[in-house]
Amino acid sequence: MLKGKRIVLGVTGGIAAYKSIEVCRRLVDAGAHVVPVLTKAALNMVGPATFAALASERPKTSLWEDTEPIPHTVLGQTADAIVVCPATARILSDLRTGRSADLLSATLIATRAPVIVCPAMHTEMWEHPSVQENLSVLAARGTIIVPPEDGRLAGGDIGKGRLASPAVVVEAVIGALLAANDMTGLAVVVTAGGTREAIDPVRFLGNRSTGKQGYALAEAAAARGANVTLVSTVHSTAPSGAALVEVTSAADMKAAVDRLAPTADIVVMAAAVADFRPANPATQKIKKGDGVPRLQLERTEDILAGLGGSKPSGQVLVGFAAETNDVGQNAKAKLSSKGADLIVANDVGAPGVGFGTDTNEVTIFAADGTETAVPMASKLAIANEVLNAALAKRDSS
Ligand code: CTP
Repeated sequence: MLKGKRIVLGVTGGIAAYKSIEVCRRLVDAGAHVVPVLTKAALNMVGPATFAALASERPKTSLWEDTEPIPHTVLGQTADAIVVCPATARILSDLRTGRSADLLSATLIATRAPVIVCPAMHTEMWEHPSVQENLSVLAARGTIIVPPEDGRLAGGDIGKGRLASPAVVVEAVIGALLAANDMTGLAVVVTAGGTREAIDPVRFLGNRSTGKQGYALAEAAAARGANVTLVSTVHSTAPSGAALVEVTSAADMKAAVDRLAPTADIVVMAAAVADFRPANPATQKIKKGDGVPRLQLERTEDILAGLGGSKPSGQVLVGFAAETNDVGQNAKAKLSSKGADLIVANDVGAPGVGFGTDTNEVTIFAADGTETAVPMASKLAIANEVLNAALAKRDSS
C-alpha cells in the first residue's frame, strides 16, 4: 500500500514511544521508505539503534548533526506524509503555534505533506483545555488526529490517553496518503478574488473579496494531486503546485476561464465577479476640477452561467453564493439559473464568515437536492469539503 512513499516518523518523548517501533516496522512492511526523527526526550524512551535496524534510514535526532545543511526543509519537502507517534502535548503546542524548537518541530513546519498526529498522554493532560484547543485548531487546519484510546497508562493509571494501536496508526497514514492523491490526474480551475472594473486609469469599482477561499481551494486541490490553474485577481503567488493566471476585470476573468474550462474536470468559481462595470471608462484620469462625474454602468457577463450553458459532459461546475439574507433560497435559485452542479453558500454578514476572514461556514447545495452544512472551520478545511462534494458528484454521474 505504501510502496514508494517516503514517510517521516516523528517520535516524541512519551512512554508510548516504544510502540512507535512497531509502527516503524509496519510502515516498512507496507513498502514505505521510513525516516525516523526522534526528539531529545524520545531518546530517553527508545534507542536510535532500534530504529537504525528497522527503518529505511538511520534516525535523525538533531538539526545540527546531519551532514545535510538544512535537514528540516529537505525532510519536509521530500516527505509524502509525516506521522508523529506518539505526539506529546509539547509537540502539539509547537505545531499549533509554529514554534520551531528542534528538528521534528522544524520539519513539521517545513512541510506541505499531510501530517498525522497520534497524541498519547495522561488523562489529565489529554483533557486539559490547552491541549484540546490545540487539537481543534490543528484539526481545523487539516492535521489528521488519531485519537488516543482508553486503557492502562504509565504508572498503572487507567483512563483516556493511551496511544492508538500501531495498526490504527498505519491505517491513518494509508488513509491520509490515499486522500492526498484522490484528485491525481484531474484538471481543476479555480477563480479567486474580486474583479476590478476600471473607472479611469487610476480608479476602479471593486469589492471586499480577498481571495482567501479561492487560494485555499487551489491549495487543497493541488495537495490532493490535481493539476490546478488558479485564475486570480489577487497579486499573490499561487499555492505550491498550482499554476497562476493573473486577471483584473470580469471580462479578463471570463476570457481566461472560457479558455481553460473546456478541458477542466472541475471548475470552481470562488471569485467575487462584478455584476456591473463602468460603461465608458475614461482613458485619462478624471480630474476633480471637471465636476462630479456621472458613472453610467452596464452589466458584465455572468461567467458561471456561461459555463453552465456549455458544460462538457462529466465536468463538475461549482459556484459560490455570497448572501446577506435568505441564503438557502438564493443559493437554490442560483443552482438552476446558472446551471451549476453545486453552489457553496455563505452568509457574508455573519461573524467569522466570508470576506477577509480565515474561517468560513457554508452550506453546499447540490443540483440533486442534497444540502451539506459545513460548520465554522478554516478556509482550507472548507475547501476540502467543497472538493469532497465535487468528487462525490463526479462519482454519482
Ligand atoms: N459569477 C460569475 N459572473 C458574474 C457574477 C457572478 O461567474 N458576473 C459567479 C460567482 O463567481 C459565484 C456565483 O456566480 O460563483 C454567484 O455569485 P454572486 O455574486 O453570489 O451572485 P450574482 O450572480 O452576482 O447574483 P446576485 O447579485 O443576485 O446575488
